[in-house]
Amino acid sequence: MATVEQPRALDEEKLMQFVFRAVDEVGATLNAALVVMGDKLGLYRALAGAGPLTPEELAARTDTAERYVREWLNAQAAGGYVEYDPEDGTYELPPEQTVALTDESSAAYLPGFFQIALGSVLDSPRITETARSGAGLGWHEHVHDVHEGCERFFRPGYNAHLIASWLPALDGVVEKLERGGRVADLGCGHGASTILMAEAFPRSTFVGSDYHAGSIDTARARAELAGVSERVTFEPVPAAAHPGDGYDLVTMFDCLHDMGDPVGAARAVRELLAPDGTWMIVEPAAGDRVEDNLNPVGRAYYGFSTLLCTPASLSQDVGLALGAQAGEARIREVAESAGFTRFRRVAETPFNLVFEARP
Ligand SMILES: C[S@@+](CC[C@H](N)C(=O)[O-])C[C@H]1O[C@@H](n2cnc3c(N)ncnc32)[C@H](O)[C@@H]1O
Repeated sequence: MATVEQPRALDEEKLMQFVFRAVDEVGATLNAALVVMGDKLGLYRALAGAGPLTPEELAARTDTAERYVREWLNAQAAGGYVEYDPEDGTYELPPEQTVALTDESSAAYLPGFFQIALGSVLDSPRITETARSGAGLGWHEHVHDVHEGCERFFRPGYNAHLIASWLPALDGVVEKLERGGRVADLGCGHGASTILMAEAFPRSTFVGSDYHAGSIDTARARAELAGVSERVTFEPVPAAAHPGDGYDLVTMFDCLHDMGDPVGAARAVRELLAPDGTWMIVEPAAGDRVEDNLNPVGRAYYGFSTLLCTPASLSQDVGLALGAQAGEARIREVAESAGFTRFRRVAETPFNLVFEARP
């Protein structure tokens, strides 16, 4: 006999708790734009180490309009980003926020995270349309804040971990690079990872590639600026078409899941590698099951995955759309489908998983 579902009783208190949580989140949503604004106008940098400042003083130091600065400061104070002293009407950036909002060399540096989030939100009307049609939206079609924010978001983590712990966790790779090895960095974006490795291993040569020609132009300029362009070249090609063979190391940083055909790209990596070469795959931190990822990091990554990664993969041939929360089991499946016989997790941080795959 069919049973009739009783509607669940409404708990008014829980309803109001949810509404007030949402008020906080609306504030946080707007704050993404305010952080990017503060970063672009130099407001955080002017506050850093300056002690208490009035809005007039901050506006004068940044050549901005006081009325906007005052309102921005109040929003920052309400969110706990700056401290307000009602006695003398001044605002101060605490030391922890100073590091997180102004110190590009710190692993805690945040402005890039907000910049890519804001860029994703700015592009969301187009994603709403692709969600109706099932079409994709390529990485190259996004606003500049997505590309630059991505570089600025990931670089602090690579600075902190890539040379110090991720490469040493791979079997024999550091020794090869110290002697002078050949490295291909696929899906390299603006080349932050490529250049970092080139700076650390002066006897090795590096080729970065990405299907987005605009990113490759920026990567070339970054290499020039870093003084490594003699040993680092960049090519605008999809991962599956990266030319050459005999590489000691092929790397992919936060991009395998963005590709339409990750298995095809993995097969291409096998062709690129020397027989005893290594494929290093850096992916967003994730568990294998949805319920493993229902936490703040998973929330941010599922958000990026909906707005950036899934449409990026769907815009390409095959359109496997692994998503940014693919997890170890699915990445292992990709590597094994492409014929890699050895696969292991070698490192992890709260934001990334690092895998080693060998032929
Ligand atoms: C999230 S970004 C990561 C960029 C860079 N690796 C980093 O860590 O800053 C993903 C990158 O994958 C690139 N990409 C997507 N599909 C690709 C493909 N099939 N071949 C090569 N690059 C691809 C995008 O253009 C983008 O630069």
